[in-house]
Amino acid sequence: MGIGTGHDGTGLRVKGPPVRVWDLPVRLFHWLLVLLIAAAWWTAENDAMDWHMRCGYAVLTLVLFRLIWGVVGSETARFTQFVRGPAAILHHVRELARPGRMGMHKGHNALGAVAVLALLTAVAIQAVTGLFTSDGIMTEGPLAASVSSGTGRLLRSIHFTNFNILLGLVGLHVAAILVYAALKRLDLVRPMVTGRATLPPGEVPPRMVSLWRAIVVAGISIASIWALVSFA
Ligand code: HEM
Ligand code: HEM
Repeated sequence: MGIGTGHDGTGLRVKGPPVRVWDLPVRLFHWLLVLLIAAAWWTAENDAMDWHMRCGYAVLTLVLFRLIWGVVGSETARFTQFVRGPAAILHHVRELARPGRMGMHKGHNALGAVAVLALLTAVAIQAVTGLFTSDGIMTEGPLAASVSSGTGRLLRSIHFTNFNILLGLVGLHVAAILVYAALKRLDLVRPMVTGRATLPPGEVPPRMVSLWRAIVVAGISIASIWALVSFA
């Protein structure tokens, strides 16, 4: 049959060329998020608080972008496409427990979606509580003065505790990716880098939207966070 598209006698495509599963905005979002969280950590540990806050603002911008992109973005980026109920999650877990390989899913699978929501929530809590956090000496988030000292102390302790929760979730996230690679011979990382993967036979490639739309959404996100930080 050779490389490329063939047929199995029933008319189904049995082996096709890779198709685009993740658009550029989702991939840029992901890898920038990884870099910026590492940078926010490093700057906090090394007392570079001006840069810590800048990294935090950039993370906030990314989160806002991803929330909007989850509504107006490409098919695999949309929350309505990948957020599923408990039955779908259970079905996926059963499939995972069965021996044998697993094909690439069109977007996040039902279990992965839970991880995506948990990661996004933890990242959002981290960045938003940072806005209200003050070390009481030199550094103060732009909204710290707008809450009582008691509330400020509470949000600061959430900023500290939630970071450990975020680290735990990232550990689980990477462990899950290794499990898919080891047990299911499914490489999820390459598609998140190149955007492309081979889908199971008969699967229709996801619909991608124009990059211009992402540029507009990025502009709105940058302007909103800039306004929040500048005029708060
Ligand atoms: C995802 C983004 C962020 C991450 C991962 C992050 C992480 C951290 C970490 C690990 C610490 C040190 C905690 C400790 O010493 O145990 C810290 C402290 C701090 N963060 Fe963030 N942060 C983020 C966003 C922000 C933002 C947006 C602001 C404010 C604009 C901010 C303001 C602060 C301040 C003022 C402290 C020092 C608190 C103190 O020492 O009392 N952070 N952050
Ligand atoms: C700070 C660390 C990390 C955070 C906060 C994070 C967060 C996320 C989020 C929010 C998504 C969903 C993407 C979207 O739909 O927009 C995702 C997906 C993904 N991440 Fe990460 N990630 C981190 C580190 C990593 C690392 C180190 C790797 C590589 C080993 C990785 C590999 C992936 C892959 C392969 C996916 C797609 C999973 C799928 O096919 O469903 N991530 N990550």
